[in-house]
Amino acid sequence: MVVVTSAVAPRRVRPPQRPIRITLDGRSIVADAEASLTAALVAEGEWALARSPKFHRPRGPACMRGGCDGCLMRVDDTPNVMTCLCQAHDGARVERQNVVLSPKLDVLRATDWFFPHGMNHHEMFAGIPGIQGLVQAFARRVSGLGELPEKARAARSNVENVEVEVLVVGAGLAGLEVARGLAAAGKSVLVCDDRPTPGGAARGLLATGALDFDLDGALETLGTALRCETTAFGVLEGGDWLLDHPRAGLLRVGSRNQVVATGGHDAPATFPGNDIPGVISARAALALLDQGVLVGAEPIVVGDGPHARAFAAAARGHGATVRVVHAVTSARGLSTVKSADVVDRAGDAEHKVDADAVVHDAPPAPCFELAVQAGAEVTHAERGYSVRVDADGRTKNPRLFAVGEVTGARFEVDELRGAARRTVAALLAQTEQP
Ligand code: FES
Repeated sequence: MVVVTSAVAPRRVRPPQRPIRITLDGRSIVADAEASLTAALVAEGEWALARSPKFHRPRGPACMRGGCDGCLMRVDDTPNVMTCLCQAHDGARVERQNVVLSPKLDVLRATDWFFPHGMNHHEMFAGIPGIQGLVQAFARRVSGLGELPEKARAARSNVENVEVEVLVVGAGLAGLEVARGLAAAGKSVLVCDDRPTPGGAARGLLATGALDFDLDGALETLGTALRCETTAFGVLEGGDWLLDHPRAGLLRVGSRNQVVATGGHDAPATFPGNDIPGVISARAALALLDQGVLVGAEPIVVGDGPHARAFAAAARGHGATVRVVHAVTSARGLSTVKSADVVDRAGDAEHKVDADAVVHDAPPAPCFELAVQAGAEVTHAERGYSVRVDADGRTKNPRLFAVGEVTGARFEVDELRGAARRTVAALLAQTEQP
C-alpha cells in the first residue's frame, strides 16, 4: 500500500506505523493500526465527529479517554462506539450519527439559534390536538444518538474466570507502579485499563520526553498480567469484579485485594464555545500527539499543568505556532475552532486571535465511581468527590485500596510514586497475613 501522509493529512507528525485503510461515511482514508480511530479522523482534519443529541451542535473529541460524547460514532454497524478507545482496524466502517444532510453544517443546528435558552419538546404545542403528536414524533425522529443495528448482536456467553492475589484497575503511572511492585515481589496481579494502550495520563508526557518513567520495564515485568481495552464495570455481591473486553468477552476476577487507580476525569473548559470541536484537554492533545497527530498549526494553550507545558513545547518542536495565554474567555467557530478571545497575561485586556485549536489544562476531577461501588467512602473538596484513603491507600473496605488522582492527589510524579510504594508495602504486609 502506498501511503502519502503529509500531503493528505497535514496534522500527522509522523507516518502511520502500520498503515491501513478505513472508511469515513464511505470515503476511504488512511489510518494507523497502532492508533485509535479518532486519531485517524483528526489527522484528516475531521473534528466534528458527533452531534449533540437534541440541538445538533457539532461535537469533537475532547478527552481521548472515554469521558465525553465527542467521538461517538457508528463503527461496523455498532452505534455509539467511543472511537477514541477503539484501535483502528483494516476495513473499519466509521459513520457519523444523528446528522441531517451535511456533517459540517447540520441544518438542524438552527434549533440551537431559535431556542438559545433551551427547548422542552414535551411541552411545545402541548394540548393542541394533532400538532402536539406531530411535534413529538418529529423530535423523536431527529434527536438521540444513532440507530440500533439491523441485526441483534449474538449474546456473549463466554466468561473467563481468573483468580489473582491483587486486581489493579487503571494502568496509569500510579496503577503501573503498584502492579510492578507487587509482581516484582512475586504476587499474582492482573492490571486492566479501558484504553488501547497503557500509561494513562503519563503516556503523553512520556512520548514528549517530559516524564522519566520506565514504561517498557513495567510492561516487561507485568507481561500478560496487563490487559488493555478491558473495562472494569461492576462488583458482584461476593466480591468478584467484572471486566469486559470488546472482543474477548467477559472476565470474572476473584482477588484477595483490589487497587483502584482510575485517575481523573478531564475538567471541562469553562468559557462560551467550550464545546466547539477543537477545544480539547491538554491530556487529550498529548494522547493524540502520542498517536502521531498534532491538533493544530496555531493552537492556543491555557493552563499551567504539566500536560499543557509538555504539549506547548512538543507542538512548537513540530513547527506549530503556539500561543500560551493566561485565560480564554470565549472560542468561536461553527464546526471547528476559528478564533478565540484571550487574555495574554493577568491584568491585560482581552483581545481576539485566530486559532485552530484551544488546548486547556485544569486539574481533573477524580474518577471515584467504581471505588464507591466497591465500598469506598468519598470526601468532597474543590475538584469534586475523591476516594477517602489512609496514608497507605486503604479505603473503608479493608480489601480495597486506592492510589493516584482518584484519591484527590495531584499529578505530581514523586508524590504518585511515593503513594504507590506505600500501597505496595501495605498490600505485601496484608497478603502475608494468614
Ligand atoms: S469519549 Fe472519546 S474523546 Fe471523549
